[in-house]
Amino acid sequence: MLLDGIVTALTGWGILATGHIASVFARDLALLSDEARLVAVGSRTLERAMAFAADHDIPRAYDSYADLAGDPDVDVIYVASSHHDHFASAKLCLEAGKSVLVEKPLTTSPDDTAELINLADERGLFLMEALWTRTNPLLRKAAALAASGELGEIRHVSANFGFAFRGPPTHRLLDPAQAGGVILDAGVYPLHMVNLFLGEPTDLFGYGSHAATGVDSHAAAVLNYPATGNRPAGTATVICSLEADLPTTLEVFGSFGRIMINDFFILPKEMLVYRGHHRDVAPEVLVTQWPGAGYTFQAQEVMRCLRAGEVESPMVPWRDSLAVSRTLALWQSVVGDPRPQREES
Ligand SMILES: NC(=O)c1ccc[n+]([C@@H]2O[C@H](COP(=O)([O-])OP(=O)(O)OC[C@H]3O[C@@H](n4cnc5c(N)ncnc54)[C@H](OP(=O)(O)O)[C@@H]3O)[C@@H](O)[C@H]2O)c1
Repeated sequence: MLLDGIVTALTGWGILATGHIASVFARDLALLSDEARLVAVGSRTLERAMAFAADHDIPRAYDSYADLAGDPDVDVIYVASSHHDHFASAKLCLEAGKSVLVEKPLTTSPDDTAELINLADERGLFLMEALWTRTNPLLRKAAALAASGELGEIRHVSANFGFAFRGPPTHRLLDPAQAGGVILDAGVYPLHMVNLFLGEPTDLFGYGSHAATGVDSHAAAVLNYPATGNRPAGTATVICSLEADLPTTLEVFGSFGRIMINDFFILPKEMLVYRGHHRDVAPEVLVTQWPGAGYTFQAQEVMRCLRAGEVESPMVPWRDSLAVSRTLALWQSVVGDPRPQREES
């Protein structure tokens, strides 16, 4: 591709795992053919790898994640396996010298998240949690607006993400062995949204309930941000559910105005900005469009970082993934976490 008059090589991508989101991402990556090429896919079985490669026109299919990590033409690997596998597979790729984009949640514990970040840092390799909504132009605009002070001090953020899940108990969302549960799967989104505007809370007060398989399936929390020398006190509320269709809204309340985004997870195409009391002022309506399913922005950000030699993205920085990882663990601990812990090797 041509960048500022300089010809650069296409970024070689590998996809690790062949499930639902791997397919969605592969289709969006195909929209970026002027800067990305999908070189290889790895699966636990050759049959699935070959079927995926045929569906997405990928030249190489491997029957192991390790072989994918060893492919010399792969620059960056998108880790799209179920939660329990993120840590092991991302570590495998980093140890093989590959940059990684890892599906959310980055890992299932703050210790594992810290270990991955340290590994990427030591090796000088790119690592990013695939928190795609943080790379969406509307959400970036919202974060910049809040940071500018135009809406005053941000005093409260509310974010929800929930849906009535009808799948079988063996589905990864309900399977303890795959680190299922709503907090890790859906709760990570509202927590990242809150993190974007308020940072890491000092404490959290929460409630929740569990599915028959033992994983958490509905949870709510209030997050506390005591006043510091730089800012007044703030609060946040988050709800996530596999039991009820919640409005997937993000609302940011400042002392001079507010931001409202409906469907921040599914289709954040429109944002309302009130500069003043919402009954006194008409909202400014900001809209955006996106190609494909919305994952091109995160893929482009990964490739921008790789070209610039940056090991972490300012859109999803390591400190924020680590902070959210700690908050997820706190939320799980108050709701109860019956899942087995990863065995130490
Ligand atoms: N960004 C988003 O919008 C979004 C949306 C959905 C999901 N996600 C995230 O993406 C990840 C995958 O979700 P998904 O919906 O694509 O799940 P999925 O359809 O169940 O696919 C998961 C894949 O993980 C691999 N895997 C590794 N160990 C496994 C095990 N023990 N049991 C089952 N599969 C195993 C399998 O690939 P192989 O058989 O090929 O090895 C499987 O196809 C999750 O971490 C989820 O949080 C993100």
